[in-house]
Amino acid sequence: MELGFYLYTMDQLTQQIAECKAEMAAFDAQQPDAAEVFRIKYLGTKGIIKNLMAEMKQVAPDQRKAMGLLMNDLKVHAEQQLELLKEQVVSPSVSTADFIDRTLPGTAVTVGTRHPLSLVRNEIVSIFRRLGFAVAEGPEIEDDWHNFGAMNLPEDHPARDMQDTFYIQQQPAWLLRTHTSSVQARVMESQKPPIRVICPGRVYRNETISARAHCFFHQVEGLYIDEQVSFADLKQTLYFFVQEMFGSRVKVRFRPSYFPFTEPSAEMDISCLICEGKGCNICKHSGWVEILGSGMVHPKVLENFSIDTNRYTGFAFGMGVERITQLKFQINDLRLYSQNDIRFLQQFTGVI
Ligand code: DAH
Repeated sequence: MELGFYLYTMDQLTQQIAECKAEMAAFDAQQPDAAEVFRIKYLGTKGIIKNLMAEMKQVAPDQRKAMGLLMNDLKVHAEQQLELLKEQVVSPSVSTADFIDRTLPGTAVTVGTRHPLSLVRNEIVSIFRRLGFAVAEGPEIEDDWHNFGAMNLPEDHPARDMQDTFYIQQQPAWLLRTHTSSVQARVMESQKPPIRVICPGRVYRNETISARAHCFFHQVEGLYIDEQVSFADLKQTLYFFVQEMFGSRVKVRFRPSYFPFTEPSAEMDISCLICEGKGCNICKHSGWVEILGSGMVHPKVLENFSIDTNRYTGFAFGMGVERITQLKFQINDLRLYSQNDIRFLQQFTGVI
């Protein structure tokens, strides 16, 4: 056995090892570069463990082996601590709940689109507004007088057959308006000339639903009553409308027609936009498409509302919104408008 004076007893070193471990356990893992600071402090070449190892020489030789095992244990412990600290840097224990990654693309907000019929109706309204027409509206459930009687279609008038009417079963005096001409009646009832209105709205007819017919559709009615209003004013107004709606290349023609509420009456055709006049299904190979009915307001209609026919004359017209939309967007099946297929409906925003 080697004799001599030894600075450290086993107990003292064991005590130091325990203190070292306690210190490691209290190490501030949140400080900047924590892992590296820890490594230098405990495992570096001038670190605490290296120093302690050096102190082993100061322990009696017969105790050194046991001491060595303890030292090794301390070193392994320190190395494990270091690994844990390194992991913390890679995946910080900070809560990710409130972490915002500002580089991610944003979530798109989907906005609804306007129905093509609304777009076209708005366009029609805006063109006539520029000519000084105001917008008037009336009820969709009407009485016989406003829909027929006042418009010079007395009971048993054969022209009533032109429009298959839905009647309200519980109230046979009421019906679903078959045309927006009923709003003309309501306007003349409540306003005195000069009158300059357009009346957009939905109308109903008892028709079998097909690509070309529907039981409800939309019209825009026009009414202009003043002194010295002539057929020339009617033509010029509608010509302006068509140019604004379809562009300056489109041609217009008027054909004599019959409506009980106008005399004389005319239907207006425009040159087919789909085939440019060459002939196609839409224009039934004629090169022309009918877009509206019109005429000079029948004196009997004016008299129904006590408007002095010696002083005032007027013109009126009614157009189908579906037909104009069909020509603008080349839609050849009326049913598409009411099927609510989002793939169809999404195509029109920004077009007009
Ligand atoms: N009311 C007619 C229809 O539904 C359209 C119409 C024609 C309206 C001539 C008018 C007009 O105001 O003058 O078929």
